[in-house]
Amino acid sequence: MPNVRFRLNGVETEIDADPDTPLLNVLRGQLGLTGSHFGCGAGECGACTVLLDDHAINSCDTPLWSVADKTVTTIEGLGSADAPHALQRAFIAEQAMQCGYCLSGIMMSAAALLKRNANPTSAEIKAALDRNLCRCGSHNRMIRAILRAAA
Ligand code: FES
Repeated sequence: MPNVRFRLNGVETEIDADPDTPLLNVLRGQLGLTGSHFGCGAGECGACTVLLDDHAINSCDTPLWSVADKTVTTIEGLGSADAPHALQRAFIAEQAMQCGYCLSGIMMSAAALLKRNANPTSAEIKAALDRNLCRCGSHNRMIRAILRAAA
């Protein structure tokens, strides 16, 4: 079984796994990156969102083989406690989360949006978060946080 190589959070990474394994399983199970969450496992909730070459994707239904030679960024690669990303600072400032389960997926979708549109409108943010569910109903605060991060 050939290893799959890709760039993960800025580090060249090589994984020995069945190429059909969902990327989320590899991230959480093999690499210990548990910031991307398992919600539905069916591409419906967005809790597992990561960036693939700067595009937001659901890692639960993305097979490992499809990220070969590409760049994957998870919430662990977005910022750190010492150097938080603008989105992380803004979400804290706006208290834009409740339970937080959806948060990493929401932030990665927002990060993808800000990469292609540095100054989005509220409507554009809503469209970008269309595939990210938040059962706590915190979307309005999240939209404020994303507007703050873009400012
Ligand atoms: Fe991947 Fe729900 S866990 S979309």
